[in-house]
Amino acid sequence: MLDKVRIKEQEVDSFKISNQEDLEKFRLAYISTKGEIASLFSEFRNVPVEEKKAFGIELNKLKSKAESKFKGAATALSEEATSSADTTIDLSLPSIPHQLGSRHPLSIVKNRIVDIFSRIGFGLSEGPEIEDDWHNFTALNFPPDHPAREMQDTFFIDQDSQKALRTHTSSVQIRILENIQPPVRTLAIGRVYRNEAISARAHCIFHQVEGFYVDKKVSFKDLKQTLLYFAQQFFGPKTKIRLRPSYFPFTEPSAELDIYWGLKTEADYKITKGTGWLEIGGAGMIDPNVMKNCNIDPDEYAGFAFGMGIERMAMLKYGIKDLRLFTENDVRFLRQFTSLDLA
Ligand code: PHE
Repeated sequence: MLDKVRIKEQEVDSFKISNQEDLEKFRLAYISTKGEIASLFSEFRNVPVEEKKAFGIELNKLKSKAESKFKGAATALSEEATSSADTTIDLSLPSIPHQLGSRHPLSIVKNRIVDIFSRIGFGLSEGPEIEDDWHNFTALNFPPDHPAREMQDTFFIDQDSQKALRTHTSSVQIRILENIQPPVRTLAIGRVYRNEAISARAHCIFHQVEGFYVDKKVSFKDLKQTLLYFAQQFFGPKTKIRLRPSYFPFTEPSAELDIYWGLKTEADYKITKGTGWLEIGGAGMIDPNVMKNCNIDPDEYAGFAFGMGIERMAMLKYGIKDLRLFTENDVRFLRQFTSLDLA
């Protein structure tokens, strides 16, 4: 019987464990409770009494030999595995960059406008996008038969045509002036809606910035200086502006605000229609009727107001040729503005 143990011992000694598979085979053969060493133990009771002692000693030696061989091999193999895994990690490789989002170009322009005007005391106001006729038209001195009130121009949202999507941010003038005693100096920025066919130059949804200032002695020259300051801050210190006589029901006198764009390239001729000047908004002195509609005495107070298109300013500043890009959410377009946000 002792021979059986010795033979097993030789087997254990010569068993080569060079990978996980060998290790598992070794475990099943000699360590497992169903393995060969376990079965030698179960033969113990058949061993003649005089041999029992020696058999027991040898068998226990064999058992611990197999166990320590198994443990040794297992540790060696797992160390090998981690060290070889280490060599596949190249610590000098640059990491996969974390994708940062970027601000939308219209938000960048909007923030810039707010920043520029805040330096000369303009606050920020808001009004609803669903407006009533009073705030969007009547209080702003639109006559009852004004074409802007037609279905072709305005999106009305209910049957009796009393509520509509605001067609301009001038409605916020009324909302503020009705509620706050002058002096008031504020901007109103937001979305406006007009029933227009969508093209590279026009959209039915766009954004405006409205600014107005009402106080005791506000004059047209304050308006002009404010617009010049803004244009030079926004487009560059050499920017020239021009105010062209125009008409709005809610301002008197009214003007169209142009900036000098130049005529250096053929494209300049095209976008300025050969004049070198580009329109960026409307402006004027707030009409006395508008003041009265807000319970402000036009003999005591005066005010100016202006309104500009944000898309238009973003297009000019960044050379964007198609208005539709702003709402298409193409990341290739949007990503170009990542670094500008930080500037
Ligand atoms: N509300 C006018 C428009 O949408 C712009 C404007 C605002 C003109 C304020 C004069 C004063 O075209």
